[in-house]
Amino acid sequence: MMSPFGKSQMRKKAVKVAPIAALLTLLLIIHLYSSSSSSTTSTTTTSDHKLSQTRATADKLIKSAAECDIFTGQWVRNPEGPYYTNETCNRIQEHQNCMKFGRPDTEYLRWKWKPDGCDLPLFRPDLFLELVRGKSLAFVGDSVARNHMQSLLCLLSKVARPEETAEPSGKQIWFRYKEYDFNICLFWAPYLVKTGSLDTTTGRPFDLYLDEVDETWSSQVAQFNFVVISAGHWFFRPSYFHINGTRSGCVYCPEPYEDIEHLLPSFIYRRAFHTAFSSINSAPGYNGVTFVRTLSPSHFEGGTFDNHGNCLRMSPVKRDEAELEEREAEFHKIQLEELGIARKAEKVNGGRFEMFDATMSLLLRPDGHPSKYGSPPGVKLVMRYDCVHWCLPGPIDAWNDFLQELLRREIQDN
Ligand SMILES: *[C@@H]1O[C@H](CO)[C@@H](O)[C@H](O)[C@H]1NC(C)=O
Ligand SMILES: *[C@@H]1O[C@H](CO)[C@@H](O)[C@H](O)[C@H]1NC(C)=O
Repeated sequence: MMSPFGKSQMRKKAVKVAPIAALLTLLLIIHLYSSSSSSTTSTTTTSDHKLSQTRATADKLIKSAAECDIFTGQWVRNPEGPYYTNETCNRIQEHQNCMKFGRPDTEYLRWKWKPDGCDLPLFRPDLFLELVRGKSLAFVGDSVARNHMQSLLCLLSKVARPEETAEPSGKQIWFRYKEYDFNICLFWAPYLVKTGSLDTTTGRPFDLYLDEVDETWSSQVAQFNFVVISAGHWFFRPSYFHINGTRSGCVYCPEPYEDIEHLLPSFIYRRAFHTAFSSINSAPGYNGVTFVRTLSPSHFEGGTFDNHGNCLRMSPVKRDEAELEEREAEFHKIQLEELGIARKAEKVNGGRFEMFDATMSLLLRPDGHPSKYGSPPGVKLVMRYDCVHWCLPGPIDAWNDFLQELLRREIQDN
């Protein structure tokens, strides 16, 4: 049985689509009329037939644009790309500036995402900024969230440049597009929950407080219309986790098994998302939309990240040629499950959760990482070949095609 909520949603959609459908059909009629009147051979019957055929196509297109699953698809050639370079955008993080550091091939820049059931419109900075006029958008997550946000800033840089203000802690950076009254804020919170020091040079496992959210972002979340939240690879690092104020166990820590409970990363990943989503659901006054951006896959081949693994491919792979690493697949599953739980939880203020299932698109792009082109030659890094982040410009730009469509659905279809 259909819930009343589902029914009213469907009705709403049908109502919205109707005027567009009428307009498109009208345009098609005008087009067909002018082409059939200029053609002496066409008869009324064939043009009638053509008309109904084209109408059916238009109906299908409208339906697919509004309801299509944009996340299932493949990469197709796009000779027009890229839409910015390391010269036109000054927001590229050094470690993702593959052009600057001499990546020699350019084929990886000439693809776009094609969902199975429809076309995904390419990002249009002018239209995007009109769409989000008067709105605010937060990115919450780790360096891949920053990677995604910098791609957005670069795509927008053709049309507008924001004013930037960073908190001294570096946990919060604001970008204000004054002429559009549009703000972006990046909250650096790789675990989403409260942590101890995340100094990677000490070699000590990090302290994670799994039932306490990171206040920096959570105390401000209510002021945003849209939030893109994500987390990923930090959860594979050694950590101690605390629950209810007590150190309760660890992940990949050096202590003997007798001394402390050892659990897998999936345990802390689930708890962290649960805590983060609960805090959003109960944030006073929050009525925005939270997009759960799913795991960004890494592509180390021939070894692990610290042991000769590298990413040397120069073109996308087909769907049947790629498979998520087991523990990444587990994370992806956990994200979808926690999204489902968050959706069911009571939302006092009308805030909502939506899926931003970015995983499959970039799973098919082993060619999109910096590898050794994320730093000048000779620099010693923990991760010698970066097969986690994404070159800018690069395939992660397509996530902003997704973002544009997701926001269009929220703003225009509602
Ligand atoms: C951009 O990349 C080119 C190499 O493709 C390099 O010569 C140039 O210095 C880079 N410019 C900036 C601003 O990074
Ligand atoms: C949490 O700790 C307090 C004492 O600090 C205790 O009373 C309570 O039962 C604990 N709750 C859970 C769920 O373990």
